[in-house]
Amino acid sequence: MNLDRYSDNFFQVNHINGFLPKKSPIAVLPKRYSDLQILIDEMPIKKANGENGLLAEEGAIEDAVKNLKNYKELVKDEDDVFINQALFRAYAFLTSAYLLAPSHFGFQKTKKYGKAHTILPSQLAEPFVIVSKKLDVYPFLDYHYAYSLGNYVKIDNAKGYEWENLAMAAKFSGMDDERGFIMLHVDINQYSPQLVGSILEFLNSKNSNDINRSLTNCLSAMKSINERRQIMWEASRWKHYNDFRVFIMGIKGNNEIFGDGVVYEGISDKPVQYRGQTGAQDNIIPTADIFTGVIEYYPSNDLTKYLLDLRSYRPKCIQHFLSDLKDEMYGNRLFNKIKEDNNEEGLCILIQILDEIYYFRNGHWQFVQKYIMANTKYAKATGGTPIISWIPNQITAVLKYMSDVLELIPNNSSFIDKTSFEEQLSKKVTLLDKQLQLLHGDNYNAEDVFALNRKLKLNDD
Ligand code: HEM
Repeated sequence: MNLDRYSDNFFQVNHINGFLPKKSPIAVLPKRYSDLQILIDEMPIKKANGENGLLAEEGAIEDAVKNLKNYKELVKDEDDVFINQALFRAYAFLTSAYLLAPSHFGFQKTKKYGKAHTILPSQLAEPFVIVSKKLDVYPFLDYHYAYSLGNYVKIDNAKGYEWENLAMAAKFSGMDDERGFIMLHVDINQYSPQLVGSILEFLNSKNSNDINRSLTNCLSAMKSINERRQIMWEASRWKHYNDFRVFIMGIKGNNEIFGDGVVYEGISDKPVQYRGQTGAQDNIIPTADIFTGVIEYYPSNDLTKYLLDLRSYRPKCIQHFLSDLKDEMYGNRLFNKIKEDNNEEGLCILIQILDEIYYFRNGHWQFVQKYIMANTKYAKATGGTPIISWIPNQITAVLKYMSDVLELIPNNSSFIDKTSFEEQLSKKVTLLDKQLQLLHGDNYNAEDVFALNRKLKLNDD
């Protein structure tokens, strides 16, 4: 892998940064953008000083945007990537707040998302498009530069990436549940350097010992990632997800909210559609899937297509990393190598890594049940996918692969207790089948799915 291809000077994917930015993002825009910064600070439903902000009052964000000057000439001249990222973040937040404010207020009144604005005024559209071209991404709120990875501010610089130590540079609700929700994504990524490092070690490995060392490192990263992921239940209360969820909705796939799309005034008269920000733009699980070979088990269907479409919603340097890794791992390289070498220990570490990917996905599926399905009947994800179809696609792939790996492990292996793995796997398959039956029923109820996970002791909370 050519590591130079994985940097845009904001991100630099390697064993030091993983998928986190090279250094902390700029918290506040330079003085020359003070009016823009004021709007970002005034915007949240709850401002930093506890008072109500613009998004607490119907019509207020529209009025404020009307009076905002067009900074396009200033933006054109910026060449520092950290300033461009902070500008992108500011315009992305304002764009989503402006467009989706009517949907938010609609939801408050009727518990259904109302129609969004479909014209983005030129004072937002023009500078936003200029800065998005510089970063080479779509002009819409994304996961990397805007909502998540490029939005953290360390509260105490001497401390780490635990979500409790992370504030948000820009916010929609301004409440702790929003901070916990999205800053936990950053928190989880503190283990991405170890994950990336373990994969680079594998690519440089010379023998089974090297391979097993790299896999042990990968397993340890995945375990920590899962431990942090599970903290979501405390970091962000599921009943409060709707306080900010509407603002991260995308245009594409959400026709009920956005109709044909949004016209960016001053750019084109043609409505455009972009997908919304979603954890599906995060890189940990895609990287783990590619490295281990889970992708070889992805079915060919619309959801797989959608996951691949989401690759284009990442910075180019990250896209290069994922596509080069895919080339490196071509033909299920890891699995075949371990098999060829009769590396029993390697197989036993691999199955444990796959188990962590399973736990991530099954826990994550329970997030979807509680945070989304128990809160609303609107079954479209912010990224624009039909929410309840994720389970068959992703969990089936992992379980099938686990069964193939397990078959090759001798019954009396000294590295794992194979019988216990077999029993667990069959429980996981039963859980999946039963959930699928529930989802196909007419009266699908999120609570039933949740109860089933609990009954089989595979609950995440
Ligand atoms: C309350 C917490 C969460 C909820 C409600 C949630 C919701 C969702 C939904 C609805 C999808 C479907 C795709 C779409 O948005 O269109 C999705 C996909 C995804 N999310 Fe999350 N998510 C949560 C937390 C996380 C976290 C913490 C991560 C990782 C840092 C993550 C990573 C992913 C990935 C990788 C996918 C793609 C599907 C897959 O490969 O299994 N999510 N999420």
